[in-house]
Amino acid sequence: MQKLKDHLGREIDYLRISITDRCNLRCRYCMPADGVESKDHQEILSYEDILRIVKIGIKLGIKKVRITGGEPLVRLGVEDFISALNKLDLEDISMTSNAVLLAEKARELKKAGLKRINISLDTLNPAKFKKISRRDNLSEVLNGIKAALKVKLNPVKLNVVVMRGINDDELFDFIELTRKENLSVRFIEYMPLGGEAKAEKFISSREIMELIKNRYKLLPSDIKGSGPARYFKIEGAAGTIGFISALSEHFCSSCNRLRLTADGRFKPCLAGNQEIKIKAMTDAEIKIAYRQALQVKPVRHSLSFERQNYNRNMSQIGG
Ligand code: GTP
Ligand code: 5AD
Ligand code: SF4
Repeated sequence: MQKLKDHLGREIDYLRISITDRCNLRCRYCMPADGVESKDHQEILSYEDILRIVKIGIKLGIKKVRITGGEPLVRLGVEDFISALNKLDLEDISMTSNAVLLAEKARELKKAGLKRINISLDTLNPAKFKKISRRDNLSEVLNGIKAALKVKLNPVKLNVVVMRGINDDELFDFIELTRKENLSVRFIEYMPLGGEAKAEKFISSREIMELIKNRYKLLPSDIKGSGPARYFKIEGAAGTIGFISALSEHFCSSCNRLRLTADGRFKPCLAGNQEIKIKAMTDAEIKIAYRQALQVKPVRHSLSFERQNYNRNMSQIGG
C-alpha cells in the first residue's frame, strides 16, 4: 500500500475524525463556560461524506481511525457509522469519549466493531467532577467505564488531565484503579487549548512521576497505543499507568496523525491554525487535499500558556 508521508518524512497512517462539535459536558480546560456555538447541521459532514474521505485515505495509507467529538456519543447513528467503518480495510477503530452515554451504548458499539475506547475522567470525586466539567454526571461516567470493561472494549484507557490544586491529590486513587482492573490510567499534561488555561495549573509529567514515586515503584511496561503515551505499571497490577507529556517533551517528531474536523476540514496539527477545507470536494480533490495537508504539517506545535493563539477550542478539535 502507498504510504502517506509529510514534508518531513513522517509517516501518517492515523486519522482522528471529529464527528460532532457538540458535547454534553463543559470541561473548564476545554471550552468556555457558555460552551462554544455549535455549527449548523448543514455545516457538519454527513457520515457518507466521512466514509468517502476515509476510503480515499485508506488508498493513500491510512490504517487507523479514532472517532472523537466534542462528545461522539451525542451524535445519532454513531453505531451504524462504526459498522460501516468496520467493513473497510482498517487495522484499528477506536474512540475517545466522556462516557456519560456509554453505559447504554457500549454493547452496541462493540457489536458494531469498535475495538477500544479512551475515556476522559479527571476526578473520582462527585463535587470536583461538577466543578471541572460544570455538569453532575460522575455516576453515569463510572457506569460507562464498567460497561466498557464488561463488553471488553480493550484496552479501556482513562485520560486524566492533571491540574495543580484541582486533582493532583487524586493520583494515588487513580493508580489504585489499575490494581484489579485491566485499565490504563493516563496522566496527561494540561495543554493551553481552550477554556480557562492557566500556567499555574500546569504540572509536568516529570513532577507527576515524582509524586507517584513517593508511594509506588513504577515498573516499565511494553504496551503501546497509536499515540505518544509512555507506559508503566505497579507490581502485580492488572492495568497500566501512562504519561502523555504534550508540553514538556513534545512528541511531534514522531507524529503519525492527521485530523478531520466535524465541519469538514483537514487539520494537520492539534495545535496549529492551518486547515484545509474539504467539505464538498470531489474524490480527486480530496486525494490532493490529503497531500496538501501534510505539506503544511508543522515541524512541532507551538503551544504556550503565555501566547495562547488557537482558532478552535479543544472541543472543536477532539483532542
Ligand atoms: P492511543 O492510541 O490510545 O494512545 O490514543 P491517543 O492517546 O493518541 O488519543 P486520545 O484521544 O486518548 O488523547 C489523549 C491525549 O493526548 C489528549 O489530551 C489529546 O489531546 C492528546 N493528543 C492526542 N493526539 C495528540 C497530538 O497529536 N499532539 C498533542 N500535543 N497531543 C495529542
Ligand atoms: N489539555 C490536555 N488534554 C485535554 N483534553 C481536553 N482538553 C485538554 C487540555 N486542555 C483531553 C480530554 C480528552 C482528550 C480528547 O483530550 O481529556 O480525553
Ligand atoms: Fe466535552 Fe471532552 Fe471537552 Fe470535556 S474535554 S467538554 S468531555 S469535549
